[in-house]
Amino acid sequence: MNLIDALNWRYATKVFDKTRKLTNEEVNSIIEAARLAPTSSGLQPFEILLITNQELKNKITEISYNQQMPSDCSHLLVFAVWDTYTDERIEHIYDITTNERDVTPDKYSAYKQRLKTIFASRTADQNFAHASHQAYIALGFAMVQAAAIKVDTVPMEGFSPEELDKLLQLREKGLKSVLLLPLGYRDEANDWLMTMKKVRHPMSEFLTIID
Ligand SMILES: Cc1cc2nc3c(=O)[nH]c(=O)nc-3n(C[C@H](O)[C@H](O)[C@H](O)COP(=O)(O)O)c2cc1C
Repeated sequence: MNLIDALNWRYATKVFDKTRKLTNEEVNSIIEAARLAPTSSGLQPFEILLITNQELKNKITEISYNQQMPSDCSHLLVFAVWDTYTDERIEHIYDITTNERDVTPDKYSAYKQRLKTIFASRTADQNFAHASHQAYIALGFAMVQAAAIKVDTVPMEGFSPEELDKLLQLREKGLKSVLLLPLGYRDEANDWLMTMKKVRHPMSEFLTIID
């Protein structure tokens, strides 16, 4: 299946087949796609939590306006974003980069200082919003990889981040939840959305060519 066929095949799955589970290999490849997503200045300001515990998945459905996808899916991903940028967080990723690329310790000094100054001049809310954008790109990468291997997903903003942060004790770790991504297989007999035509703005409304 080529990529465009895979993107036409995927849809926001509303009813998952509770009996089918992904293999570890499938789950790992979807998370790896998210990990490989580009981020602003390479800071990768978010983490993924992988949830398989059924009791916890049920609780997450309760704080997701009772949408059943978190409880019925095979594996649930939570995208949790840094609450702000800090000098320590910037230092840490550049320590990894310096080490992996085997460059001199001062290679990124000026660049790091610029980043620290920029983020320190903004509020925590502004930094959190900036960091959240990076997580949305990774969500897209994960969804595309899932479609490529014929795994169903539904991106979800419809939950209470405050409740989820409490449940998973994210704030204590300097994180805030922004997105859920249930993974699994569509329930072909019961998912009313599966057979509905995919609707998008026509290309004539979507694209402007400027020569
Ligand atoms: C960021 C984001 C949040 C979404 N949140 C929800 C959600 O909470 N519940 C839901 O059923 N669908 C959710 N959707 C799915 C969209 O409604 C769906 O992707 C859109 O209508 C396009 O349809 P398609 O994905 O089937 O092509 C969300 C989609 C995105 C991109």
